[in-house]
Amino acid sequence: LPIRASSYSDELVQTAKTVASRGRGILAIDESNATAGKRLASIGLDNTEANRQAYRQLLLTTPGLGEYVSGSILFEETLYQSTTDGKKFVDVLREGNIVPGIKVDKGLVPLPGSNNESWCQGLDGLASRSAEYYKQGARFAKWRTVVSIPSGPSALAIKEAAWGLARYAAISQDNGLVPIVEPEILLDGDHPIERTLEVAEKVWSEVFFYLAQNNVLFEGILLKPSMVTPGAEHKEKASPETIAKYTLTMLKRRVPPAVPGIMFLSGGQSEVEATLNLNAMNQSPNPWHVSFSYARALQNSVLKTWQGRPENVEAAQKSLLVRAKANSLAQLGRYSA
Ligand code: 13P
Repeated sequence: LPIRASSYSDELVQTAKTVASRGRGILAIDESNATAGKRLASIGLDNTEANRQAYRQLLLTTPGLGEYVSGSILFEETLYQSTTDGKKFVDVLREGNIVPGIKVDKGLVPLPGSNNESWCQGLDGLASRSAEYYKQGARFAKWRTVVSIPSGPSALAIKEAAWGLARYAAISQDNGLVPIVEPEILLDGDHPIERTLEVAEKVWSEVFFYLAQNNVLFEGILLKPSMVTPGAEHKEKASPETIAKYTLTMLKRRVPPAVPGIMFLSGGQSEVEATLNLNAMNQSPNPWHVSFSYARALQNSVLKTWQGRPENVEAAQKSLLVRAKANSLAQLGRYSA
């Protein structure tokens, strides 16, 4: 039942289903060079292309990763890189039954006229870039914009975030890439969970309003929401059950069941917290595949174990598998700490 004629419709639906497959989720390793530099600095390594390649090789060549991971989001540099033996990372992923994805946004800049908020760049030239990424093997895309609760959020910032995501989603689908729609609501702030729920409902209602206006095929998108939690500096922490209750309430009120997959970001939660929260959300049936698209909550232990030393690669890969398996169980609602 097409929304509009697109030669890619069937493929988009199939790709989205594959990424949202049972017991699996996304390994996000699409840190920009600047963010990758911060991660490398945390273990005393310089931010060189060789170090970034070595780290991504460690992650992507982990044996058995495809059992728990259905897709991996790459930064542009990684999409064109190969292993030290000369095999393209894209081919390593495909052989491991993992769909390659690509971060396509160009990052955040100040939004004039707002309350010191930001907007996400990257629409200029996006169609031709997306067509190139498809040729290179990418089958899904990611665009991350942010909304800050302590800064407002202003009506202007929400509208800009939602409109940008919708334009990006339409352009991605036109070029065969399943768009991951990610308006990250930052954890920062001392607000209670009710306030996060209110902001998340507002953000997602605008996002879906503009997605519909842009004739986006909902069966061929994936979402990457923040979990609904109290602000990071709020006086009380919420239990996984409470976070699950608020987050699912928000999703049920705002997200049509046509959307195949909800792939949460970890947003600074600890590895175990992110797993427990996902597990709590999968304790009862819901209309979507509710899973993970974690960067930090899959990589923190890996980095610490690796320390940039070749002799630690195997142990670091094992620690990636431990987290990936735990989150796979959490997708099935069967994780216990
Ligand atoms: P975190 O899981 O570290 O919040 O990363 C989310 C993200 O958008 C990376 O793709």
